[in-house]
Amino acid sequence: MPLSAAPVVGVRPQSENFMNLKIRNEDKGDIDAIEKVTIEAFLNAPHTDHTEQYIVRELRNSDALSISLIAESQGQIVGHVAISPVTISDGEEGWFGLGPISVSPNIQRSGVGSKLMRSALEALKDSGASGCVLLGDPAYYSRFGFQPESCLVLADVPPEYFQAIQFSGALPSGMVTYHEAFNAKA
Ligand SMILES: CC(C)(COP(=O)(O)OP(=O)(O)OC[C@H]1O[C@@H](n2cnc3c(N)ncnc32)[C@H](O)[C@@H]1OP(=O)(O)O)[C@@H](O)C(=O)NCCC(=O)NCCS
Repeated sequence: MPLSAAPVVGVRPQSENFMNLKIRNEDKGDIDAIEKVTIEAFLNAPHTDHTEQYIVRELRNSDALSISLIAESQGQIVGHVAISPVTISDGEEGWFGLGPISVSPNIQRSGVGSKLMRSALEALKDSGASGCVLLGDPAYYSRFGFQPESCLVLADVPPEYFQAIQFSGALPSGMVTYHEAFNAKA
């Protein structure tokens, strides 16, 4: 069989290089496009009540959007990630929560989410943060260095899905609380 006719099973449809992907901080003019990509990304996602766009907006309005990166391809916003401060019941400071993270459904699984994750974590670390938590599938987030830590607890979630990555200092211990913007419903 000629090489050109070989099945391409397992090859991803696009790569971040083909898409000329650029990761940058959000601008004022990006807000509507961020909302759109967030809504679309979560439309058919499991474990969502479809309030992620309200959470991002409320974080921004509360001045709690510590990091807000967009992925841009050919002038289009195709991904977004938000990071905001969390509180820990032992009083430890400098910890943040990553999410929501969104990639346009038609280009998911082409590396955009990974690039957003790595850029966001690098920016967070560079800002002097001590660490970051997130709620999500360990099968995906472990590749970025996240792992469940029994001393960090988020109420009412299976502990294996609540993960942390530590940049500096000692690992805190206690109940973690996200910003109140995570209660936004509209
Ligand atoms: C989760 C998300 C941001 C990942 O972005 P992405 O660009 O699709 O991911 P990448 O291309 O960088 O990585 C693809 C890999 O991650 C895996 N993956 C993607 N989303 C996953 C998820 N929710 N759970 C487990 N694994 C996932 C893929 O199976 C693939 O694995 P492989 O490399 O072993 O084949 C994106 O799929 C998305 O927007 N999903 C809907 C919204 C959502 O669930 N956000 C996360 C909760 S805040």
